[in-house]
Amino acid sequence: MEQSSQIQWFPGHMARTRRKITESLKLIDMVVEVVDARIPLSSRNPEMDTLTAGKPRLILLNKADLADENATARWVSYYEKHGVKALPVDCKSGRGLSKITGLMRETLKDEIAVWQQKGMVGRSVRAMVAGIPNVGKSSFINRLAKGTKAKAEDRPGVTRGNQWFGLPDGVLLLDTPGVLWPKFEDHTVGLHLAFTGAIRDQILDCEELACELLGVLKTEYADRLAERFKLDSVEGWQEQENYELLETIGRKRGMLVSGGEVNTERAANTLLDEYRGGKLGRITLEFPPKEV
Ligand code: G4P
Repeated sequence: MEQSSQIQWFPGHMARTRRKITESLKLIDMVVEVVDARIPLSSRNPEMDTLTAGKPRLILLNKADLADENATARWVSYYEKHGVKALPVDCKSGRGLSKITGLMRETLKDEIAVWQQKGMVGRSVRAMVAGIPNVGKSSFINRLAKGTKAKAEDRPGVTRGNQWFGLPDGVLLLDTPGVLWPKFEDHTVGLHLAFTGAIRDQILDCEELACELLGVLKTEYADRLAERFKLDSVEGWQEQENYELLETIGRKRGMLVSGGEVNTERAANTLLDEYRGGKLGRITLEFPPKEV
Protein backbone atom coordinates (compact mmCIF):
# COMPACT_ATOMS: atom_id res chain seq x y z
CA MET A 1 0.00 0.00 0.00
CA GLU A 2 1.06 3.54 -0.59
CA GLN A 3 1.72 4.42 3.02
CA SER A 4 4.04 1.48 3.62
CA SER A 5 6.03 2.22 0.49
CA GLN A 6 6.44 5.79 1.75
CA ILE A 7 7.85 4.41 4.97
CA GLN A 8 10.31 2.29 3.01
CA TRP A 9 11.84 5.20 1.16
CA PHE A 10 11.85 7.42 4.21
CA PRO A 11 15.63 7.29 4.91
CA GLY A 12 16.75 8.43 1.43
CA HIS A 13 14.09 11.06 1.26
CA MET A 14 14.98 12.37 4.69
CA ALA A 15 18.61 12.75 3.62
CA ARG A 16 17.51 15.02 0.76
CA THR A 17 15.31 17.09 3.03
CA ARG A 18 18.08 17.35 5.57
CA ARG A 19 20.37 18.77 2.88
CA LYS A 20 17.77 21.21 1.64
CA ILE A 21 17.03 22.47 5.13
CA THR A 22 20.70 22.92 5.91
CA GLU A 23 21.11 24.93 2.68
CA SER A 24 18.04 27.05 3.45
CA LEU A 25 19.29 27.89 6.94
CA LYS A 26 21.76 30.31 5.34
CA LEU A 27 18.83 32.30 3.94
CA ILE A 28 16.70 32.65 7.03
CA ASP A 29 16.69 34.31 10.44
CA MET A 30 14.31 31.96 12.22
CA VAL A 31 12.15 28.87 11.96
CA VAL A 32 8.38 28.75 12.35
CA GLU A 33 7.64 25.16 13.26
CA VAL A 34 4.05 24.06 12.79
CA VAL A 35 2.79 21.23 15.01
CA ASP A 36 -0.65 19.78 15.72
CA ALA A 37 -1.78 21.12 19.10
CA ARG A 38 -3.50 17.79 19.86
CA ILE A 39 -0.23 15.85 19.52
CA PRO A 40 2.68 18.30 19.80
CA LEU A 41 5.19 15.47 20.34
CA SER A 42 4.17 13.02 17.64
CA SER A 43 3.51 15.68 15.02
CA ARG A 44 7.10 16.70 14.66
CA ASN A 45 10.20 15.27 13.17
CA PRO A 46 12.56 14.36 16.02
CA GLU A 47 15.50 15.72 14.03
CA MET A 48 14.07 19.25 13.90
CA ASP A 49 16.03 20.45 16.92
CA THR A 50 19.41 19.34 15.63
CA LEU A 51 18.63 20.29 12.03
CA THR A 52 17.76 23.87 12.91
CA ALA A 53 20.08 24.24 15.89
CA GLY A 54 21.18 27.80 16.38
CA LYS A 55 18.14 29.37 14.69
CA PRO A 56 15.56 31.07 16.88
CA ARG A 57 12.26 29.21 16.73
CA LEU A 58 8.58 29.94 17.10
CA ILE A 59 6.20 27.04 17.52
CA LEU A 60 2.73 27.25 16.05
CA LEU A 61 0.33 25.01 17.94
CA ASN A 62 -2.02 24.68 15.00
CA LYS A 63 -5.49 23.12 14.98
CA ALA A 64 -5.92 24.65 18.44
CA ASP A 65 -9.65 24.66 17.65
CA LEU A 66 -9.58 20.85 18.00
CA ALA A 67 -7.32 20.69 21.06
CA ASP A 68 -8.16 20.98 24.75
CA GLU A 69 -7.63 24.63 25.67
CA ASN A 70 -6.08 23.89 29.08
CA ALA A 71 -3.64 21.42 27.60
CA THR A 72 -2.65 23.95 24.94
CA ALA A 73 -2.04 26.58 27.63
CA ARG A 74 0.16 24.06 29.46
CA TRP A 75 2.15 23.49 26.27
CA VAL A 76 2.67 27.24 25.83
CA SER A 77 4.06 27.54 29.40
CA TYR A 78 6.20 24.45 28.90
CA TYR A 79 7.85 25.87 25.77
CA GLU A 80 8.17 29.28 27.41
CA LYS A 81 10.03 27.66 30.31
CA HIS A 82 12.41 26.19 27.75
CA GLY A 83 12.97 29.57 26.14
CA VAL A 84 10.77 28.99 23.07
CA LYS A 85 7.71 31.02 22.21
CA ALA A 86 4.61 29.12 21.14
CA LEU A 87 1.40 30.45 19.66
CA PRO A 88 -1.89 28.54 19.54
CA VAL A 89 -3.57 29.14 16.19
CA ASP A 90 -6.36 27.88 14.01
CA CYS A 91 -5.23 28.26 10.43
CA LYS A 92 -8.60 27.15 9.15
CA SER A 93 -10.41 30.18 10.58
CA GLY A 94 -7.33 32.36 11.03
CA ARG A 95 -7.83 32.69 14.78
CA GLY A 96 -4.62 33.65 16.61
CA LEU A 97 -2.74 34.58 13.47
CA SER A 98 -2.88 38.34 14.01
CA LYS A 99 -0.22 37.89 16.69
CA ILE A 100 2.25 36.07 14.49
CA THR A 101 4.39 38.83 13.02
CA GLY A 102 4.67 40.62 16.38
CA LEU A 103 5.76 37.38 18.01
CA MET A 104 8.26 36.71 15.25
CA ARG A 105 9.83 40.11 15.80
CA GLU A 106 9.88 39.51 19.54
CA THR A 107 11.60 36.15 18.98
CA LEU A 108 14.23 37.97 16.93
CA LYS A 109 14.53 41.07 19.11
CA ASP A 110 18.28 40.65 19.74
CA GLU A 111 19.03 40.18 16.04
CA ILE A 112 16.81 43.12 15.09
CA ALA A 113 18.64 45.34 17.60
CA VAL A 114 21.94 44.39 15.93
CA TRP A 115 20.51 45.13 12.46
CA GLN A 116 19.41 48.54 13.66
CA GLN A 117 22.82 49.31 15.10
CA LYS A 118 24.28 48.46 11.72
CA GLY A 119 21.83 50.80 10.02
CA MET A 120 19.86 47.98 8.42
CA VAL A 121 16.57 49.67 9.12
CA GLY A 122 13.59 48.00 7.51
CA ARG A 123 15.41 44.73 6.86
CA SER A 124 12.90 41.94 6.28
CA VAL A 125 12.53 39.13 8.74
CA ARG A 126 13.04 35.84 6.93
CA ALA A 127 11.50 32.70 8.35
CA MET A 128 11.33 29.12 7.20
CA VAL A 129 8.06 27.28 7.74
CA ALA A 130 8.65 23.67 8.73
CA GLY A 131 6.54 20.75 9.86
CA ILE A 132 5.46 17.23 9.01
CA PRO A 133 2.78 16.68 6.33
CA ASN A 134 -0.79 17.63 7.24
CA VAL A 135 -0.08 19.84 10.24
CA GLY A 136 -1.42 22.81 8.30
CA LYS A 137 1.64 24.48 6.75
CA SER A 138 -0.13 25.35 3.48
CA SER A 139 -3.19 26.57 5.36
CA PHE A 140 -0.91 28.78 7.46
CA ILE A 141 0.92 30.25 4.48
CA ASN A 142 -2.25 30.70 2.44
CA ARG A 143 -4.00 32.46 5.30
CA LEU A 144 -1.18 34.91 5.85
CA ALA A 145 0.11 35.48 2.38
CA LYS A 146 -2.99 35.54 0.24
CA GLY A 147 -1.95 36.39 -3.29
CA THR A 148 1.42 37.73 -2.25
CA LYS A 149 3.63 34.94 -3.48
CA ALA A 150 7.08 36.35 -4.09
CA LYS A 151 8.96 35.36 -7.21
CA ALA A 152 12.03 33.34 -6.30
CA GLU A 153 14.11 34.89 -9.13
CA ASP A 154 13.48 38.43 -7.85
CA ARG A 155 15.31 37.93 -4.61
CA PRO A 156 19.08 38.04 -4.50
CA GLY A 157 20.74 35.08 -2.86
CA VAL A 158 17.64 32.98 -3.04
CA THR A 159 17.95 29.68 -4.81
CA ARG A 160 15.63 29.21 -7.71
CA GLY A 161 12.83 26.91 -6.73
CA ASN A 162 12.54 28.15 -3.17
CA GLN A 163 9.08 29.42 -2.46
CA TRP A 164 9.01 32.77 -0.71
CA PHE A 165 5.87 34.52 0.41
CA GLY A 166 5.85 38.15 1.39
CA LEU A 167 3.68 39.37 4.25
CA PRO A 168 2.66 43.01 4.54
CA ASP A 169 4.79 43.97 7.55
CA GLY A 170 8.26 43.12 6.31
CA VAL A 171 8.17 39.39 6.88
CA LEU A 172 9.18 36.82 4.29
CA LEU A 173 8.14 33.20 4.69
CA LEU A 174 10.05 30.41 3.02
CA ASP A 175 7.87 27.40 2.33
CA THR A 176 9.16 24.21 3.86
CA PRO A 177 12.04 23.09 1.65
CA GLY A 178 11.39 19.34 1.84
CA VAL A 179 9.17 16.72 3.35
CA LEU A 180 9.87 16.14 6.99
CA TRP A 181 8.40 12.83 8.03
CA PRO A 182 7.33 12.09 11.58
CA LYS A 183 8.69 9.11 13.49
CA PHE A 184 6.25 6.47 12.19
CA GLU A 185 8.24 3.59 13.63
CA ASP A 186 7.22 4.41 17.18
CA HIS A 187 3.91 2.64 17.85
CA THR A 188 2.27 5.40 19.91
CA VAL A 189 3.44 8.10 17.51
CA GLY A 190 1.99 6.10 14.60
CA LEU A 191 -1.31 5.66 16.42
CA HIS A 192 -1.62 9.33 17.38
CA LEU A 193 -0.85 10.40 13.82
CA ALA A 194 -3.45 7.98 12.51
CA PHE A 195 -6.10 9.04 15.07
CA THR A 196 -5.73 12.65 14.05
CA GLY A 197 -5.73 11.79 10.35
CA ALA A 198 -2.17 12.96 9.72
CA ILE A 199 -1.36 9.64 8.09
CA ARG A 200 -3.73 7.57 6.07
CA ASP A 201 -5.77 4.80 7.55
CA GLN A 202 -3.96 2.14 5.52
CA ILE A 203 -1.30 1.99 8.20
CA LEU A 204 -3.82 0.14 10.36
CA ASP A 205 -7.14 -1.44 9.61
CA CYS A 206 -9.82 1.16 10.44
CA GLU A 207 -11.59 -1.12 12.93
CA GLU A 208 -8.32 -1.79 14.72
CA LEU A 209 -7.57 1.92 14.75
CA ALA A 210 -11.03 2.76 16.08
CA CYS A 211 -10.62 0.17 18.86
CA GLU A 212 -7.28 1.70 19.84
CA LEU A 213 -8.90 5.15 19.88
CA LEU A 214 -11.76 3.84 22.00
CA GLY A 215 -9.20 2.49 24.47
CA VAL A 216 -7.71 5.98 24.86
CA LEU A 217 -11.02 7.83 24.95
CA LYS A 218 -12.58 5.38 27.41
CA THR A 219 -9.79 6.10 29.87
CA GLU A 220 -9.24 9.80 29.32
CA TYR A 221 -12.49 11.18 27.95
CA ALA A 222 -15.24 8.73 28.95
CA ASP A 223 -17.76 11.54 29.47
CA ARG A 224 -17.31 12.76 25.88
CA LEU A 225 -17.81 9.26 24.49
CA ALA A 226 -20.90 8.73 26.62
CA GLU A 227 -22.36 12.04 25.55
CA ARG A 228 -21.67 11.68 21.85
CA PHE A 229 -22.89 8.12 21.52
CA LYS A 230 -25.55 8.22 24.26
CA LEU A 231 -23.87 5.43 26.17
CA ASP A 232 -25.32 6.23 29.58
CA SER A 233 -28.31 4.05 28.81
CA VAL A 234 -25.97 1.07 28.21
CA GLU A 235 -25.24 -0.66 31.45
CA GLY A 236 -21.56 -1.41 32.07
CA TRP A 237 -20.35 0.10 28.78
CA GLN A 238 -17.09 1.16 30.39
CA GLU A 239 -16.25 -2.45 31.14
CA GLN A 240 -16.81 -3.55 27.56
CA GLU A 241 -13.81 -4.61 25.48
CA ASN A 242 -12.98 -2.08 22.78
CA TYR A 243 -14.45 -4.14 19.94
CA GLU A 244 -17.63 -4.77 21.90
CA LEU A 245 -17.87 -1.05 22.58
CA LEU A 246 -17.47 -0.36 18.87
CA GLU A 247 -20.43 -2.68 18.28
CA THR A 248 -22.41 -0.86 20.96
CA ILE A 249 -21.68 2.45 19.22
CA GLY A 250 -22.72 1.02 15.85
CA ARG A 251 -25.91 -0.36 17.34
CA LYS A 252 -26.68 3.01 18.97
CA ARG A 253 -26.36 4.62 15.56
CA GLY A 254 -28.49 1.97 13.88
CA MET A 255 -25.62 0.67 11.74
CA LEU A 256 -26.98 -2.81 11.31
CA VAL A 257 -26.65 -5.27 8.47
CA SER A 258 -28.99 -8.10 7.64
CA GLY A 259 -29.27 -10.57 10.48
CA GLY A 260 -29.06 -7.74 13.00
CA GLU A 261 -25.27 -7.67 13.14
CA VAL A 262 -23.45 -4.38 13.52
CA ASN A 263 -21.54 -2.95 10.57
CA THR A 264 -18.39 -2.35 12.61
CA GLU A 265 -16.45 -0.93 9.67
CA ARG A 266 -19.03 1.82 9.33
CA ALA A 267 -19.03 2.38 13.08
CA ALA A 268 -15.22 2.61 13.05
CA ASN A 269 -15.20 5.16 10.24
CA THR A 270 -17.88 7.20 11.98
CA LEU A 271 -15.93 7.28 15.24
CA LEU A 272 -12.69 8.27 13.48
CA ASP A 273 -14.38 10.93 11.34
CA GLU A 274 -16.21 12.42 14.29
CA TYR A 275 -13.09 12.49 16.46
CA ARG A 276 -11.06 14.12 13.66
CA GLY A 277 -13.77 16.65 12.98
CA GLY A 278 -13.91 17.71 16.63
CA LYS A 279 -17.43 16.34 17.14
CA LEU A 280 -16.40 14.68 20.41
CA GLY A 281 -15.16 18.02 21.67
CA ARG A 282 -11.68 19.40 21.96
CA ILE A 283 -9.41 16.51 22.80
CA THR A 284 -5.65 16.57 23.33
CA LEU A 285 -3.76 13.29 23.31
CA GLU A 286 -0.31 14.42 24.46
CA PHE A 287 0.68 16.56 27.41
CA PRO A 288 3.94 18.26 28.41
CA PRO A 289 6.24 16.04 30.46
CA LYS A 290 6.02 16.65 34.20
CA GLU A 291 9.06 18.53 35.39
CA VAL A 292 10.53 18.45 38.86
P1 G4P B 1 0.21 20.72 5.19
O1 G4P B 1 0.44 21.85 4.23
O2 G4P B 1 1.04 20.85 6.42
O3 G4P B 1 0.35 19.36 4.58
O4 G4P B 1 -1.31 20.80 5.73
P2 G4P B 1 -2.58 21.53 5.08
O5 G4P B 1 -2.47 23.00 5.19
O6 G4P B 1 -2.83 20.95 3.74
O7 G4P B 1 -3.72 21.05 6.09
C1 G4P B 1 -4.06 19.68 6.28
C2 G4P B 1 -5.51 19.58 6.72
O8 G4P B 1 -5.67 20.22 8.00
C3 G4P B 1 -6.50 20.30 5.79
O9 G4P B 1 -7.71 19.56 5.86
C4 G4P B 1 -6.70 21.64 6.48
O10 G4P B 1 -7.93 22.26 6.15
C5 G4P B 1 -6.70 21.21 7.93
N1 G4P B 1 -6.30 22.30 8.84
C6 G4P B 1 -5.21 23.11 8.74
N2 G4P B 1 -5.16 23.95 9.77
C7 G4P B 1 -6.24 23.69 10.55
C8 G4P B 1 -6.72 24.23 11.80
O11 G4P B 1 -6.14 25.10 12.42
N3 G4P B 1 -7.88 23.68 12.28
C9 G4P B 1 -8.53 22.67 11.65
N4 G4P B 1 -9.65 22.22 12.22
N5 G4P B 1 -8.10 22.14 10.49
C10 G4P B 1 -6.97 22.64 9.96
P3 G4P B 1 -8.22 18.66 4.69
O12 G4P B 1 -9.27 17.79 5.24
O13 G4P B 1 -7.04 18.01 4.03
O14 G4P B 1 -8.80 19.66 3.70
P4 G4P B 1 -10.04 20.67 3.92
O15 G4P B 1 -10.69 20.31 5.21
O16 G4P B 1 -9.44 22.02 3.95
O17 G4P B 1 -10.87 20.40 2.74
